[in-house]
Amino acid sequence: MFTCLDKWRRSLLGAGLAAACIGAAAATGAVPAEGPLRACADPDNLPFSSAAEGPKGFYVELADKLSEALGRGAAQEVWHSTLYARRAVRSTLLARRCDLYIGLPAEGDFMRPQVVMSAPFAVHHYALVLPPGQRISGVAELRGRRVAVQLLTPPHQLLATTEGMQTVTVRSPEEGLQALADGQADVAWLWGPSAGYHNRTRHAERWQVLATDGPGMAWPVAIGFRRDDAALRAQVQQQLDGLQGWITGLAAKYGFPAGPALPLAAADAPVLRLAAAGAVGGLMGQATAAVVADAAGSDAMLSRGRTLFNTNCSHCHGPNAQSPEARIDLRKLGRRYGDEMTEVFHATVRAGRPDKGMPAWKGVLAEDDIASIKAFVDSVQQRK
Ligand code: HEC
Repeated sequence: MFTCLDKWRRSLLGAGLAAACIGAAAATGAVPAEGPLRACADPDNLPFSSAAEGPKGFYVELADKLSEALGRGAAQEVWHSTLYARRAVRSTLLARRCDLYIGLPAEGDFMRPQVVMSAPFAVHHYALVLPPGQRISGVAELRGRRVAVQLLTPPHQLLATTEGMQTVTVRSPEEGLQALADGQADVAWLWGPSAGYHNRTRHAERWQVLATDGPGMAWPVAIGFRRDDAALRAQVQQQLDGLQGWITGLAAKYGFPAGPALPLAAADAPVLRLAAAGAVGGLMGQATAAVVADAAGSDAMLSRGRTLFNTNCSHCHGPNAQSPEARIDLRKLGRRYGDEMTEVFHATVRAGRPDKGMPAWKGVLAEDDIASIKAFVDSVQQRK
């Protein structure tokens, strides 16, 4: 168990952590029917949750509201970093250290069947951040502007695979807003809740933050429960249904972009696999930072990979790897091979499959060319 140690290290962030830690360690049985709801939350993930002085965050306020609505007083937070979302859920919710986990992805099969979800209670969007008065109604209108995007997010991926786009890669929504403030970018396309929150709290609402829609741009979030806690889930769902208006108000208070979302992305735009697989929902603000820290890919590498691909591979595998023929559609590699994808890719590209019409590239392309192509191919994998 590293969590108490973890908390102790993070206790610089605020008081109350040590108490939560002790409480959490003691509570290992079934969900108690009374006393405060125990909600897992990240101690350092504003605008969603924070253990520090100041705003508690969207999810923490919702946890309090739900706990109160159930007549159990304010919620008790069980703090744990969500840098690695699955690990966080495993070592908190599934370890019975808390009763619910707010802000998990409502769609897909995130940690099912161990985790069951409420109905979605909010949808977070990637959002365009632009000066007041300006309007953008399609991706093409971003041409000729410097667009700040977070590395390896769906907007980044969309723009990196669209001809003629000029991106400024940033590592966080804060950095994206700073790039705008410093005049290094004209527009930014960032994780909406964080961009909206920082626009309000640090930049005096200097920009408009407009929700965008399209593949990978909208993330419905739900509350996760353990599979065997169906009764609690039903109780909470009933409260949630009555709180929808209050939740919308809470999102506005934190500066989250409100709808209707601009349908910016092309309908067939590929979705970044990393984002779809791990860096999800409300965990996104943090998780992207983790993904970024781990990622070997970079903007330059992706666009180099795309160019190399379109020079060497596209006449068989389609421009930008979009082949109408499923057998050689490299966007399906991840689906086809799962964890083996990297191995299959490198083996096939080096040795080819000469009897099947796939040439060998070993000695033809340099190793770092192959690595760049791989980064590009990774970026266009279709959502599972
Ligand atoms: C002359 C046509 C041609 C070119 C050029 C070509 N490929 Fe292929 N590639 C194929 C064919 C055909 C297959 C399917 C082989 C089979 O059926 O097993 C294939 C298969 C693959 C596979 C395995 C797909 C799978 O699902 O198993 C990968 C990965 C791949 N190619 C990558 C590349 C890359 C990267 C390049 C450019 C550096 C490239 N190919 C260039 C024809 C080509």
